[in-house]
Amino acid sequence: MIGRIKGLGSYLPSKILTNQDLEKMVETSDEWIVERTGIRERHISDPNTETVSEMAIKASRAAIEDAGIDPLEIDFIVVASTTNNMVFPTTACLVQGAIGADNAQCFDMSSACPGFLTAFNVAQNFITAGQCKTALVIGSECLSNYLDWTDRGTCILFGDAAGAMILQADEETDDFHKCIMKADGKRYGCLKCESKMQRISEEDIKEKSRFYMEGREVFKFAATEVPKVILELCEKYSIDLNDIDKLVLHQANKRIIEAVSKRLSVPMDKFPMNIERTGNTSAASIPVLLTELKDAGELKRGEKLILSSFGAGLTWGAAYIEY
Ligand code: ACO
Repeated sequence: MIGRIKGLGSYLPSKILTNQDLEKMVETSDEWIVERTGIRERHISDPNTETVSEMAIKASRAAIEDAGIDPLEIDFIVVASTTNNMVFPTTACLVQGAIGADNAQCFDMSSACPGFLTAFNVAQNFITAGQCKTALVIGSECLSNYLDWTDRGTCILFGDAAGAMILQADEETDDFHKCIMKADGKRYGCLKCESKMQRISEEDIKEKSRFYMEGREVFKFAATEVPKVILELCEKYSIDLNDIDKLVLHQANKRIIEAVSKRLSVPMDKFPMNIERTGNTSAASIPVLLTELKDAGELKRGEKLILSSFGAGLTWGAAYIEY
């Protein structure tokens, strides 16, 4: 048994921050940002009305409409986020209450940028184990709240967004979920942000709860490990990479995607991208991109996809799914 993608939805905040806007905030240029990252603009949430939970609710409603289901059919909600607006309850519970999914069990997961892939993996395994039939899987992030807006090395990279997917059990098939997830906690220090809640002094808050990233290290890690895990996935599950229609990668940097394309010898036209307009939206990036492809008529039923993501932890992974 496997979960099939029944619906997709996304939400992007209305405020757009362009590279030209950033030129006025830090010493940078549109040319540098586009050349090094492929990003031209990103969406930034309103802290009052576009919280992680509000964006998750909007993306979920869109996914439910796309799936054409009753919210009462949903029996599992999992939200991936590292930037929840509430410490508790979980964002999944806030979504459940707002959309009226009264029959759903709910929890959140935190796995940085690969959060959606991790949540998708968990939902698929819940479906296979018979613990649920209709799962709502969400990635929602407001990284803008955690960025150091004076650090040109990081603040240019990220945007806010939410994406949601309805997965429904296909009981007619003996097909099974194919996924590999990995982690290397020894390298945690190259991408980190400490909780503001545990620091006592104002000085500590400023110093340690800012978004910290060793960009080059993360770049090298992603360009090396993402192709490796995709090849491992193909080998483990006898997937022919040539049969894959699209490789839907975490949108962190256009150059990382180009490096993966080169290492796998798979042409760039099989790697859809929206990073130019969204920046890196962390756990939201894959479901937002899938929704945009579907809305543009560029995602056809039956297409074979590999989803792959990477980020803080360090964590990374890849999964195979037919749309
Ligand atoms: N504008 C202009 N110059 C800049 C900027 C900027 N915004 N940022 C850095 N520079 C400068 C640096 O100061 C440096 O100057 P120097 O040579 O005088 O010292 C120079 O540009 C080169 O800096 P690098 O950091 O080496 O630049 P690089 O080519 O590596 O690009 C980048 C930096 C874009 C951050 C890249 O390393 C990258 O994309 N890394 C991966 C990031 C990523 O994918 N993160 C995922 C996060 S996922 C999660 O879990 C949250």
